[in-house]
Amino acid sequence: MDQAHKLRELISSGLNSDDDSKKDAKIVAITSGKGGVGKTSLTVNLAIAMSKLGKKVAVIDADLGMANVDVLLGIVPKYTLAHVIRNEKTMSEVMVEGPAGIKILSGGSGAMDLVHLDEQSVLNLIDGLMFLNNEVDYIFIDTGAGIGKSVLSFIEAAEDVIVIVTPDPTSITDAYALIKNINYDEKNVKVIVNRVESNKDGKNVFSKISLATEKFLNIELENLGYIYEDKHVKKSVRSQNAFLISAPHSLASHAVEMLAYNLENNNVFDGQPNRFNRFVGRLFRLNS
Ligand SMILES: Nc1ncnc2c1ncn2[C@@H]1O[C@H](COP(=O)(O)OP(=O)(O)OP(=O)(O)O)[C@@H](O)[C@H]1O
Ligand SMILES: [Mg+2]
Repeated sequence: MDQAHKLRELISSGLNSDDDSKKDAKIVAITSGKGGVGKTSLTVNLAIAMSKLGKKVAVIDADLGMANVDVLLGIVPKYTLAHVIRNEKTMSEVMVEGPAGIKILSGGSGAMDLVHLDEQSVLNLIDGLMFLNNEVDYIFIDTGAGIGKSVLSFIEAAEDVIVIVTPDPTSITDAYALIKNINYDEKNVKVIVNRVESNKDGKNVFSKISLATEKFLNIELENLGYIYEDKHVKKSVRSQNAFLISAPHSLASHAVEMLAYNLENNNVFDGQPNRFNRFVGRLFRLNS
């Protein structure tokens, strides 16, 4: 059994304890085949939207790339999960509060390489995750891109996976390669198509991937929704702000709210703006 698998088993055995007072967080890995498709932006904003729906959310930044969650939000965390793994700090000492009360946990360079952690480090990490599990309703993990072992081990440890894809052909083929490498044991794979020009665009991309995975891998994907190309996303990245906060009425914000609602309620997206979408929009306005 490899580390990631062990991690998942231990977490779920902790979750299934008889203590009813304990919460049961849903762990969602957000990933992509190709880099730069909007993982970090969407993870952060999805977390904020979920928080506006009244859920407690933690974001784990497990990406060792450049544009990290903390950079995106202009937060400078003092400690990272590396400290938890080395048993130097507790999870609550490492957590930083972000917009709308979301909790941010920075991975820390190299620390989140689950594949190469020793036994004690994995146990320390599990302890930390168990604590987090009782604190929040959702744990979103922003993984790196691609099919590297570290990325795959996070996907393996999570219950749900969201694959971000864009209409760019290489993004589609890389997403397919990633999905092919995921271990499907009781896992739901959901897809968000980002940077679409129209609903039709999103529908085309989703059907391209889902038809291929159904035909060649016998895997049915769930369509979580589409996000339009929106200048507010780029603007918010530049100003180190979340677009859901700086541009709450933008197309991207409305789409992300819809996605959060779908995720929480297990809805399948139909791609069409309708009365229901407007209902969700009002729900968010009431909460903000
Ligand atoms: N819907 C969108 N509309 C316009 N621009 C977007 C959209 N989504 C993402 N972007 C742009 O794409 C860039 C990359 O986004 P982001 O950093 O979130 O991607 P990533 O997948 O996390 O990248 P990496 O793989 O490097 O971690 C951002 O600078 C942002 O400006
Ligand atoms: Mg990123």
